Amino acid sequence: MAILKIIQYPNPLLKRKAYRVKDVKDPRVQQIIADMIETLAHTSNCAALAATQLAIDIPPSITVINSPVNPGEVICLVNPEIISASGKVSDVEGCMSVYPAEINAVVERSQKVQVKAQDRTGELIEFIAEDYFARCIQHELDHLNGMLYIDRLSPLKKSRFLKKITKLLSDIKR
Ligand code: NI
Repeated sequence: MAILKIIQYPNPLLKRKAYRVKDVKDPRVQQIIADMIETLAHTSNCAALAATQLAIDIPPSITVINSPVNPGEVICLVNPEIISASGKVSDVEGCMSVYPAEINAVVERSQKVQVKAQDRTGELIEFIAEDYFARCIQHELDHLNGMLYIDRLSPLKKSRFLKKITKLLSDIKR
């Protein structure tokens, strides 16, 4: 197993789209899942990770999430899809790839989502997630589509964010 590097904004690799996994049992896929779970366990204050934000050459459609319901349990979703969504709720969001200690923003998401995916053994699963868990899944699915939460901000909020990050990046260089 290995701990994978988390790619940081504004690296264009964050815009990669994940490929759909055909065979979950493929040893290379299983290795990536094991590495992702290890990386999640070794990253403090990390709710979840998507393959596209990690140093993986060709990232598959996989996300690992620390279960908000059962502490210590990791939920692994392969080829996750949202099949229905309802309600709207705005809340603060941050991202391990976007200076989580310094940067966050309020993002509107669906309150409730119905999710279809495969688990790490390839078994089909379907479930409903609400509130924080639903937000987490939507954030990770965005990653797998090459999108960050900041891409969902209004133009005004996004320009504020860009100012903040430009200052942050110049402070880091100093
Ligand atoms: Ni993120």
